[in-house]
Amino acid sequence: MKKLFYVTTPIYYVNSEPHIGHAYTTILADFLKRFYMMIGYDAYFLTGTDEHGDKIAKAAQENGASPQEYTDRISSSFKQVWKEMDLQYDDFIRTSEGRHRKAVQSILQKVYDGGDIYFGSYGGYYCFGCERYFTEKEMSDGKCPDHDTKLEYIEESNYFFKMSKYQGWLINHIKANPDFIRPERYRNEVMSLLEGEVLEDLCISRPKARLKWGIPLPFDENYVTYVWFDALINYVSALGYPDGDTFRKYWPAAQHIIAKDIVKPHGVFWPTMLKAAGIEPYRHLNVHGYWNMEEAKMSKSLGNVVRPVDLMKKFGDDQIRYFFLREMTFGLDAKFSEESVINRINYDLANDLGNMVKRSFNMAERYFGGKVPPYPQEAVHERDILKEKFIRALDEYVDNTMAFRFNSGIQHLWEFIGSLNKYIDETKPWVLAKEGKTGHLSAVIRNLLESCFALAVVLSPVLRNASVKILEALDMAGSQFDRMKIISLDSLEDGGAVRDVGVLFPKLEKEGLEGDASVKKEQKMAENDGLIDIKEFAKVDIRVAEILKAARIEGSDKLLELEIDSGGERRTLVAGLAKQYDAEYLVGKKILLVANLKPATIFKRTSQGMLLAAKKEKNDAPVLIEIDPSIPNGARLS
Ligand code: MSP
Repeated sequence: MKKLFYVTTPIYYVNSEPHIGHAYTTILADFLKRFYMMIGYDAYFLTGTDEHGDKIAKAAQENGASPQEYTDRISSSFKQVWKEMDLQYDDFIRTSEGRHRKAVQSILQKVYDGGDIYFGSYGGYYCFGCERYFTEKEMSDGKCPDHDTKLEYIEESNYFFKMSKYQGWLINHIKANPDFIRPERYRNEVMSLLEGEVLEDLCISRPKARLKWGIPLPFDENYVTYVWFDALINYVSALGYPDGDTFRKYWPAAQHIIAKDIVKPHGVFWPTMLKAAGIEPYRHLNVHGYWNMEEAKMSKSLGNVVRPVDLMKKFGDDQIRYFFLREMTFGLDAKFSEESVINRINYDLANDLGNMVKRSFNMAERYFGGKVPPYPQEAVHERDILKEKFIRALDEYVDNTMAFRFNSGIQHLWEFIGSLNKYIDETKPWVLAKEGKTGHLSAVIRNLLESCFALAVVLSPVLRNASVKILEALDMAGSQFDRMKIISLDSLEDGGAVRDVGVLFPKLEKEGLEGDASVKKEQKMAENDGLIDIKEFAKVDIRVAEILKAARIEGSDKLLELEIDSGGERRTLVAGLAKQYDAEYLVGKKILLVANLKPATIFKRTSQGMLLAAKKEKNDAPVLIEIDPSIPNGARLS
């Protein structure tokens, strides 16, 4: 039987049209579904819309429509956008559907019958944007930290779910399953909510007198269900809870994807609700950071290209999927700008991948008349070297993707692409041709074509169009991922067709942006001669990290690219240490990392933080601050 994978996005509120943030999460889910299918899983992908609650009722009213008319309209615009972006979900759940209402009422009744729902009265500070109460600890200056709006004190009689009863169970569950919530920073966030104090019980109803647009409680018609208690249940209602085959089949393999805005409902409410309803917990909660855009810049350089479909049309489907997956370190915020999209397209896609494929195909045309050359036995060692590199890259890609470290996974494939470009430069096929070394030439071109084929197959969940173009040009369209076959680098037929592959990724002009590879964002630190207080200092997240890999950056005599472990998280750093340190010397060293610095693009790498080094005079070479190896990775400076 095939292994199973069930991926969900949040169900989006229908009070606004889909934007880039929604598109990111949904693209990730689409990528993962295709990725898991590629490696042989039976995968299922759910998305949908969250349609009840104050916020939606208010938006409908403002638009002069009934809640149902209004939600029909916006929900279908989500569907339309996903269709135009070819995001292939298996099901789209709407919380206003009858199948959902039935499941919500059945869970409410079950939890009520189990004695975990009681009637009481409560007064607390409420955010209408988040549709939830805030504890003293969570609010800042009486305001909602997400919406920056004043919280309103509300007191009313309602039904409550005994969330506190399951607090101890949840703490133990998270301890026993350290990657239940990942990456680590969000597990820590949930643990600090759980371990700090006794959880307040969850108010799960709203009086109909105040809000009609919701699912009536099965045990009291005067109340509707609180929108979060209703919404979270979509993940099982869509599968046909309680007795649908799809539910039984996929639920044990459930993986949710959300952004950091909705960690508490997913990390605390949902697992305790599941426990109370006698449903096993989901497998993983995967939490990503935010895409931030600078408004001014957005309107200046991107014009009106903020709608996901326009973005795809402007830059291309493969290009945007690649950018999203490669640019963001899952879990951390990232900046969206036209400059960074264009850099990824021009450097990674056009230069690295596009050129390698184009050169390989052109040489097959020029030297072998557009046919796959045979592989002469005497050059077998070159294939073995490439095979080893490819196996390493593929395994890293698969492992990192399964661990939601998409950028690291893809980076490994790009290292392989880099070694193919180097292989062309070093073997110089044009010289081999001139010198009549046909055997070696044939081996080089065959190796390159085989590598292009293997890359096209493994990259198909990301680069949906370019992959097909490469496979079609090799007459291999429809090829399945078969690890053994792919890693053999021996899949093509002698004499098979090698057609023109065209320009896979046209280079883009950087209007008004500096074009030199060395010019990237400089982090400008505001000068401050004055003293700072402890609160300001506490904003800087300094942690111990370990250098796992270090390599010189071609084209720069100063810069090194480092891969570091900052305590369960891998990051890339670009550091100006190349003049004074050998890359090999740095591997294994423990250093201090400023972990919450905004990412910066330097030499087409995204540097996710800064390591601490010291120098006495301005022009001295910086000396790395090394840390005692016994201090664990991720330990914070305090
Ligand atoms: N309806 C709730 C979710 C209920 S799930 C049971 C909700 N909806 S939402 O429309 O506000 O969507 C929030 C989600 O949209 C985030 O968790 C994330 O997946 C995505 N994003 C919204 N803005 C985003 C960014 N700026 N960056 C990245 N993702 C963003 O919350």
